[in-house]
Amino acid sequence: MRAVVCERYGSPEVLHLVDVAKPIPAAHGVLIQVRATTVSSGDWRVRSLEVPAGFGLITRLVFGFSKPRQPILGSELAGVVEAVGGEVSRFKVGDPVVAFSDTAMGCHAEYVCLQEDGLLALKPSNLSFSEAAALCFGGTTALAFLRKAKVQPGERVLINGASGSVGTAAVQLARHLGAEVIGVCSEANLELVRSLGAGQVIDYQQTDFSQNGDTYDVIIDTAGTAPFARSRGCLRPGGRLVLVQAGLAAMLRSIWQTFSSDKTVIAGPVSVRAGLGQLAELAEAGVYKPVIDRHYPLDQIVAAHRYVDSGRKKGNVVITLDPQC
Ligand SMILES: NC(=O)c1ccc[n+]([C@@H]2O[C@H](COP(=O)([O-])OP(=O)(O)OC[C@H]3O[C@@H](n4cnc5c(N)ncnc54)[C@H](OP(=O)(O)O)[C@@H]3O)[C@@H](O)[C@H]2O)c1
Repeated sequence: MRAVVCERYGSPEVLHLVDVAKPIPAAHGVLIQVRATTVSSGDWRVRSLEVPAGFGLITRLVFGFSKPRQPILGSELAGVVEAVGGEVSRFKVGDPVVAFSDTAMGCHAEYVCLQEDGLLALKPSNLSFSEAAALCFGGTTALAFLRKAKVQPGERVLINGASGSVGTAAVQLARHLGAEVIGVCSEANLELVRSLGAGQVIDYQQTDFSQNGDTYDVIIDTAGTAPFARSRGCLRPGGRLVLVQAGLAAMLRSIWQTFSSDKTVIAGPVSVRAGLGQLAELAEAGVYKPVIDRHYPLDQIVAAHRYVDSGRKKGNVVITLDPQC
């Protein structure tokens, strides 16, 4: 089968389309023919090793010291079950599915084997394969951080970086929780963020949300430009600041900032295990729909990575393996 391999850390040019052996499902395994996958900010970080300050060594320990241990990147997919192991009971051949392999990656390939009890669910029937491929990365992250922040109906939730993968999901999911959502993004994306449910949108090149006199119950910073020093003045008493891309020092500082103030700072990786089933249900109910920016075929993966590297994508970048999807 065809797969994209990343043989060393570096620029998008380290990626190559090659032939590799097609995987065979184990007893509890499900073999999925991939129709679409994504290039996420997670793929960019693993490929380039451009990680938040202090995480360089940890990333090498997790993903491989001198090159990625798992050379096939890609953490989410939509596809069709092609074969199942003898013990599989949740899925059958022909089922359309979505899956999130998270840090195990491996989705930039024509076929992927996953355990049936992994992050795997039936594809929402109202999403195309290319929309469904982008269900998980931003969605599970946003859902997990919104839960950690304990967002309540009626609260004012500001999302800084509202037009990216995590941001577009966070706007929709916070709105679904009944929050009043304020989105911060560039001028080009104001309409997009408004259309997702933000009651107010702020162009960060025109207005500094921390200096305009407004206050918020929760600030979710996906862009890394709203640290505690900037956000504390506009957080209400009992407010929560979520630092989605915190470095190691910011994570450690968050403990003291929470202890020494009337605010809570939430930083660091989150567990996404519980999120996929709920996201699939929310998508089926029409509450959540992944935003798609561009599509690239698998053989243009280098161009897709170059675009994601820009840090300016709107929602998600999809890789299509089936031109019909
Ligand atoms: N902690 C975790 O477990 C976890 C999980 C997933 C992702 N992450 C991290 O979360 C971050 C966001 O991920 P993503 O996938 O959403 O990235 P993304 O899709 O590349 O989006 C980044 C967004 O940031 C916006 N932006 C750039 N400069 C900005 C500024 N000064 N103010 C406000 N917005 C700005 C851009 O929008 P404009 O073009 O409108 O400026 C862009 O849409 C990444 O650093 C990623 O590594 C962390």
